[in-house]
Amino acid sequence: MENFERTNIEQKINNSDFLRIANFVEETYGLKIPDFKKYLIQSRLYKRLKALGINSYGEYIDYLFAPGNSQEIQNMIDVVTTHKTDFYRENDHFEFLNDVILPEHSKLSNNIDIWSAGCSSGEEPYTLAFTVNEFNDKNISKLNYRIYGSDVSLTSIQEAQNAVYSMNKIAGIPLYIKKKYFLKNKDSEKNLVKIIPEIRKNVHFFKLNFLDKEYNLDKEFDLIMCRNTLIYFSRETQEIVLRKLLKFLKKGGYLLIGHSESIFSMNLPVKLVKTTIFKKI
Ligand SMILES: C[S@@+](CC[C@H](N)C(=O)[O-])C[C@H]1O[C@@H](n2cnc3c(N)ncnc32)[C@H](O)[C@@H]1O
Repeated sequence: MENFERTNIEQKINNSDFLRIANFVEETYGLKIPDFKKYLIQSRLYKRLKALGINSYGEYIDYLFAPGNSQEIQNMIDVVTTHKTDFYRENDHFEFLNDVILPEHSKLSNNIDIWSAGCSSGEEPYTLAFTVNEFNDKNISKLNYRIYGSDVSLTSIQEAQNAVYSMNKIAGIPLYIKKKYFLKNKDSEKNLVKIIPEIRKNVHFFKLNFLDKEYNLDKEFDLIMCRNTLIYFSRETQEIVLRKLLKFLKKGGYLLIGHSESIFSMNLPVKLVKTTIFKKI
């Protein structure tokens, strides 16, 4: 019994409190939270109530929306968002990068700029970096590459910048990639690995909310990956965000979306190359 403690937190979020938060999250971040996700949201917010010593969801939401509480808004969105990601997730995109995009691009330029938009804890931008680096190691012409990862979640960005992952996270990736790009923590009991500095120096992270009116970016990209993020948005918001992202994609550059996402009937300035792979026209 001594491992358990009594909790005073009210066990359930009521419908009106759930709607207050769901409406705010959709208006501010684009994320739709349908009714069936009420208990998922409740359990994610529980962490915040516990950290703050607040006993009811209603009280927490009043605190959250009190003037000047932007830090708690950030903490809330960090826990409410879904951050599932993996190295080499939807791997055919990385194969396409290696087989088509990089050979094509290296005939035109020595530099490539890539944006992983909605990058979570960094596995996607680092996989992009491994792929370009592998291409460079196998070819005479080398590409100077810069990879940018953005997310609305600050904790995700901090994790991405730290570049430290559990061994389980890299269990499924090829052994030579593990050996080449990851350093083992000296304390073997910790089961942690860190991405090598030569890769980290080419990967930069910044915070960006897709719903921001203007994206404060001063560059255009050759490839934008925006995967498994827009799926949580309404169709209308997806189209608005994609139009904004495409403003930062060079003509002839590639847009890659997640395998379960589609831009069907959106009439965007792109042509289909392959399922989920588009070229800006
Ligand atoms: C499921 S992860 C996808 C990660 C990666 N792209 C992948 O496919 O593995 C979705 C990420 O989108 C981020 N996100 C959600 N809403 C966002 C918004 N309004 N602006 C920017 N990022 C957002 C979340 O914080 C989360 O890290």
